[in-house]
Amino acid sequence: MRFGFSTAGESHGPGEVTLVHGVPAGLGLLAEDVDRDLARRQQGYGRGGRQKIEKDKVEFLGGVRHGYTLGSPVAMLVRNRDYANWEHRMSPAPVEDPPDPITLPRPGHADLAGMQKYAFDDLRNVLERSSARETTARVAAGGVAKKLLSDFGVEIHSAVYRIGTVAYPKERAVVDAARADESEVRCPDPEVSERMKEEIDAARYARDALGGEFVVVAHGCPPGLGSYVDWRDKVDARLAAAILSINAMKGVEFGMGFGLAAKRSSEVQDEILAENGHLARASNRLGGIEGGMTNGEPVVVSAAMKPISTIAKQLRTVDISTGEETKAFKERADSCAVPAAAVIGESMVAVVLAEAFLEKFGADNMTDIRAAHDSYARRLAEAGVAAR
Ligand SMILES: Cc1cc2nc3c(=O)[nH]c(=O)nc-3n(C[C@H](O)[C@H](O)[C@H](O)COP(=O)(O)O)c2cc1C
Repeated sequence: MRFGFSTAGESHGPGEVTLVHGVPAGLGLLAEDVDRDLARRQQGYGRGGRQKIEKDKVEFLGGVRHGYTLGSPVAMLVRNRDYANWEHRMSPAPVEDPPDPITLPRPGHADLAGMQKYAFDDLRNVLERSSARETTARVAAGGVAKKLLSDFGVEIHSAVYRIGTVAYPKERAVVDAARADESEVRCPDPEVSERMKEEIDAARYARDALGGEFVVVAHGCPPGLGSYVDWRDKVDARLAAAILSINAMKGVEFGMGFGLAAKRSSEVQDEILAENGHLARASNRLGGIEGGMTNGEPVVVSAAMKPISTIAKQLRTVDISTGEETKAFKERADSCAVPAAAVIGESMVAVVLAEAFLEKFGADNMTDIRAAHDSYARRLAEAGVAAR
């Protein structure tokens, strides 16, 4: 089966479940490979009280034995510690005294269209699944994808370059992304990080919330992941869909992104140079993708996140049980989650690149994949068309 994953689980249910299929046999995989990113996802200035309760750790339920994958689906569970406080409200079994339904849909959430679509009169049935808690399960899948890619020299980093009105140049964030974890807002510049924190504090003080922008950079991708031959194979289209599937993402760009539109062609294309039997590029303005394929340059994908929807300054809504206008209710909320979203972005990029990587090099076991990968690199080198 093709590499990919599904998730299950409600925000305050017993846990978040990930099923990763198409994982080759013989990949070294430890819980810490996944736990590292689960912890990074929980950090970031501006998060709400939930992150203090949850200390996410993965448990492998299938697909891994003695530190190596078996080629069978990798099943992972991250328990929701908060479930202890929600057992009655979230009980899978019927309860005698059901909790009061939530009837105030929050603007900017799945609440209203979700209750209309699935015929619910209790919005908790929507918000439990539409919550970004689900991205915990995605980061677990990303841990598997990243481990696979890193065995072939592909490293993925991310950095935040905008929170509200405070911005850092994206080109510099791309270069410095590996240092982003040193900052509480995951921006590589200490001075800009402080200003971003002040911006978050000011929004919180005003009982409001913020969004921002982040960039994900994948170094070491071989050329030719994805394909131009069919629209479904194009790796930029697949990356865009994966990024936009993350809660609150409203835009995605590659390389210079929308800024390309105002330029002349000579200011945009990445010229091809010959360097000691290798090929090199004069620039990477297109973000490492041409014709739906990686071109051997770093893959640079960035995203715009809208401000957090639930805010203390309550927004107008309608009580669906009475039809009366009122104020939206507030479920515990972050005031800014862009630093965490960047980590989730890394995970989604890793999953798409891992899928494309296994399409190119086979997917049964690491030995055969390694042989196919090395033979491809040899062929490009012998033909004088390998990247630097
Ligand atoms: C890491 C992360 C944390 C989030 N935390 C919150 C939150 O605490 N409160 C909130 O209202 N929205 C939060 N969101 C955004 C909502 O989940 C999202 O806006 C909502 O599900 C509607 O989806 P849409 O914005 O993609 O249309 C978060 C998103 C991410 C990526």
